[in-house]
Amino acid sequence: MKKYKFELFAVTAPGLESVCARELTALGMAEVVLCKGGVSFQGGLEELYRANLWLRSATRVLVRLGAFGCRDFPDLYRKALRLPWGRFIKPGTRIQVKATSHRSRLQHTGRIAETVQESAGRVLGGAVASDGGPDQLVLVRFEDDQCLISVDSSGELLHRRGYRQKIGAAPMRESLAAGILMLLNWNARAPLVDPMCGSGTFVIEGALMGMRRAPGIERRFAFMQWPRYRPGLWQVLQIQARSAEQPVEMSLIGRDRDPAVLEAASCNASKAGVEAVTLFQTAELGTGDVPEQPGLVLCNPPYGGRLGHDGALIKLYRQLGDIYRSDYRGWQGAVLCPDGPLAQALGGGFDRLDFLDNGGLEVGLYVAHL
Ligand SMILES: C[S@@+](CC[C@H](N)C(=O)[O-])C[C@H]1O[C@@H](n2cnc3c(N)ncnc32)[C@H](O)[C@@H]1O
Repeated sequence: MKKYKFELFAVTAPGLESVCARELTALGMAEVVLCKGGVSFQGGLEELYRANLWLRSATRVLVRLGAFGCRDFPDLYRKALRLPWGRFIKPGTRIQVKATSHRSRLQHTGRIAETVQESAGRVLGGAVASDGGPDQLVLVRFEDDQCLISVDSSGELLHRRGYRQKIGAAPMRESLAAGILMLLNWNARAPLVDPMCGSGTFVIEGALMGMRRAPGIERRFAFMQWPRYRPGLWQVLQIQARSAEQPVEMSLIGRDRDPAVLEAASCNASKAGVEAVTLFQTAELGTGDVPEQPGLVLCNPPYGGRLGHDGALIKLYRQLGDIYRSDYRGWQGAVLCPDGPLAQALGGGFDRLDFLDNGGLEVGLYVAHL
């Protein structure tokens, strides 16, 4: 069978590109190049499957279908007709085309999407808009009159690992939690404490990393609907991933004052298969034992914006900084929060390591060596 090599692109949230590149390099991918909004790399079907199976910090993995210069709609239609649609999309699949355009003559993104959809429909025999079939997302990007068309191989976003059934008031994406643990170089062998854990995302992602559990092992992907899907290859990769799992020996503790969110955290941990290695405790900030071996204490406290601002927040952040400094000496401390008065209230010793995007809000990752 002819072995295709694809131009692949792992999409990430802003700020997570570097950790995603590290993940791809560790997976042995070729031609890993850091870009804005993600990381490009190369590979065949096996690499594509492995990227979806293993990437913790990415949002989706795209395959480049084609790229060409283009300045009018008839040209777009003609050039899109020449793309190898049938390699990725079965006739009858419902195609959703999303377009963006910057600094290009073709600016009407709705019309760009329609044009590409028409070309794909013609190549695939016209039956692409039928309801009820599986969805296939196609992304079209115009920049400086260059058109790039990609097919999404992931389907549901990769942060949806499949374990989170219940959420708290402002949960963070699993990919962001995992990305932060990697940005902090947490080695998955030292204790992890989240004193305001909500639905437990940091702790559960930490447990999955510690166990070397492939984050995508339980879920389905868009590539499973493609004409050349190789279920046998996927099965082999799943078996290899299962056999690479290892026991977790460190403490992974999530605490929160709200028993309802902790119940959600416990349910999620159990669905993720990490309930035996995680501990969730109802506790007011500053209460609860601190593990003897130093590790990482991190949290994503309320910001006010999404959770309802009140003057007590500044006090809460002051208290948080004080507790980190007094109770977690020798630990690495991290807080994800917006710049400004809340970050300042953490007090001395905290430096902003990075800017990240949490649910559309720009936040800083503040880190202290305590
Ligand atoms: C933004 S949420 C954390 C979301 C979490 N990272 C997740 O993924 O679900 C902040 C959490 O801090 C908790 N919290 C607020 N004040 C607290 C306090 N004084 N002590 C303990 N927990 C507190 C809230 O109950 C809430 O669940």
